[in-house]
Amino acid sequence: FGRNIRVHAVVGSTQDELRALAEQGAPEGTLVIAEQQTSGRGRMGRAWVSPAGKGVWMSLLLRPIVPLPLTPQLTLLAAVALSRAITRVVPLEIGIKWPNDLLVNGRKISGILLESAAEDERLRYVIVGLGISVNLDAEDYPEELLQKAVSLKMAAGHAISRSDLIAAVLEQFEQLYALYQEQGFAPIRALWEAHSVTLNRPVTLYTPQGVIEGVPRGLDDMGGLQVELSDGNIRTVYSAEVGAGG
Ligand code: BTN
Repeated sequence: FGRNIRVHAVVGSTQDELRALAEQGAPEGTLVIAEQQTSGRGRMGRAWVSPAGKGVWMSLLLRPIVPLPLTPQLTLLAAVALSRAITRVVPLEIGIKWPNDLLVNGRKISGILLESAAEDERLRYVIVGLGISVNLDAEDYPEELLQKAVSLKMAAGHAISRSDLIAAVLEQFEQLYALYQEQGFAPIRALWEAHSVTLNRPVTLYTPQGVIEGVPRGLDDMGGLQVELSDGNIRTVYSAEVGAGG
């Protein structure tokens, strides 16, 4: 990974830049990095704050030989890779909130956005968008985000090297992706579960099919979240927003 890197000063979203390259046949591991994004996007159609020079805003191209329904596994793999990369550069305790938000003391420091293209129920490519709030200061965040978000600099008390982070992310991604290709999802699942802050506590899940309350107990083989309902039954959720409290 990272043999083919494009660095931009300003883009709308690195996701769109990489999608164009992917459609032209760019190889797996191609990386697009931007100093600044003017329309960075997050999950659920939200905006992603991406000020110039203060974060790692980048998109990585994967071309996995994986059936479409297993895409959630890659989402979880990305969370594990990113959290391992960050802790290698900054010794902070990072928790993974399902599926792939990274938290320090309950506040979000990083987010991941997977966008994919498929054909005949197979993935053609996956664009893994990685946003790490590295050296943002409190004034870089909109007021309403300050309760929920934090940067590595704010959490660690000093500025962090973005190039060290990028190198660590590529290294961890490459390692875990190789492990996934050799041994399948099982080892990734174990790593994810070990770093999760979502398991074994009551949550409210806002799914496209409605609101579910229960206690997540683990992941299934496909990467879905297994939620224990009040009647003891297990329901598996593949897409949802997690809120606290039951
Ligand atoms: C989320 O937590 O909602 C996901 C945030 C993903 C942000 C990254 S920054 C690089 C890439 N380009 C984007 O427009 N979004 C992702």
